[in-house]
Amino acid sequence: MAGPAASQRAVFGAALALALVAVAPAPAQDLRGHGGPVRALALDGDRVISGSFDTRSIVWDGIVARQITRAHVSAVTAVLPLPDGRFASGGQDGYVAIWGEEPEPIRFEPLHDLPVADLALWSGGIASGSWNGQIALWDGEGAPRYLDGHQGQVTGLVAYGDGLASIGSDLRLRFWGADGSPSTVIDLPAAPGDLATEAGALFVAGADGFLRRVVPGQRIEALELTTRPLLAVAAGGGQIAVSDMTGTVWLLDPQSLDIRAEIETRQGAVWALALSGDGIWTGGNDGWIRRWSTAGMPLGDGAGVAEPTLTNPRGAEVFRACAVCHTLTPDDEQRAGPTLYGVFGRKIGTAPGYEYSDALRDLDIVWTPQTVSELFEFGPAAYTPGSRMPEQKVPSAADRAALVEFLETATR
Ligand code: HEC
Repeated sequence: MAGPAASQRAVFGAALALALVAVAPAPAQDLRGHGGPVRALALDGDRVISGSFDTRSIVWDGIVARQITRAHVSAVTAVLPLPDGRFASGGQDGYVAIWGEEPEPIRFEPLHDLPVADLALWSGGIASGSWNGQIALWDGEGAPRYLDGHQGQVTGLVAYGDGLASIGSDLRLRFWGADGSPSTVIDLPAAPGDLATEAGALFVAGADGFLRRVVPGQRIEALELTTRPLLAVAAGGGQIAVSDMTGTVWLLDPQSLDIRAEIETRQGAVWALALSGDGIWTGGNDGWIRRWSTAGMPLGDGAGVAEPTLTNPRGAEVFRACAVCHTLTPDDEQRAGPTLYGVFGRKIGTAPGYEYSDALRDLDIVWTPQTVSELFEFGPAAYTPGSRMPEQKVPSAADRAALVEFLETATR
């Protein structure tokens, strides 16, 4: 290439960058683009990769969604940057996809018959752990090899040494050699939710609200953070981050387990975390990815799904739990669920332009104030078996009435 032209371009680029810094206000750093809870986050150099209940994964360039991919038919539960610049996603549908620059996946394989819980790099390629207890070792091309990982669900998986470490609902932390051979097994005192590793130590987020630091051959150290289940744990940049169901995130010292900062994200449950020396990203139930400094200060402009119009204050309040996945206007803005615009009088599974599950399309329900109320009295799993809508109920009859009253005006 012509040297002078290249260097001119570089100089021009530098001048332009300086000019932008000088005139532009501090950019918002929260990442908005998912239409459902964010379930997975990973850092790949400067890139953030996210996966969501909305079935999509997004590669972020700064705050811009540079690549939006979709292949899974249900939530993306894990994302993993690969050494060659590609990345992998794992889904609730049991599939693992490998993505390059193209909109279609390079590979899309049904590795498991139950949801993928986590993905990790393994010397021969990708390891995926599933709710069916198996760990698949896959080179990305041939047939996978399966390890009898855990009795019950695998809940977390990380690369460790030249092999792997995994946790499961059988209350075990297991180690695997580079060739997949089983080695040490450590019993855990409580059900583990997620797993991270930093400098040879393993960090286990427990359903009992304890963070545990495990070093093989040493006594397990435990720190009680809350009485509620912990959801995610991540390591990076010399810190550990842990999150819970209510949106609290703790930043800790990986050696002493001293708490360095506590963040109230106001995102509802924080399912996903990513850490680097520059900051921390939190992926929440509100569909946002928020960015914080390593000291826990917000770098973006705030959390939250837009408030619906307040016709009936209580009904609108109940609807906030739905707003991350459902809009009330004819355009669906790519949220995880169909728009509820015009829902009353409509047969189930017929909003134009939305890809429903087969289970929902085969049902014979017409949405009325009564059937919508019943949907949340009995819960989607019982009322619409096979629905991709996550299980949730509105237990109070008064709240259901307020919700339906709100929807009757707001969906017209
Ligand atoms: C995490 C995402 C999510 C949340 C939160 C959520 N839903 Fe859903 N909802 C979905 C999905 C996905 C579907 C489609 C299910 C399918 O195709 O199997 C759906 C379907 C529905 C349907 C059927 C729509 C049709 O066209 O047949 C209704 C009604 C509904 N949801 C109402 C609600 C209400 C009311 C709330 C809050 C109390 C709520 N949803 C919360 C994801 C969600």
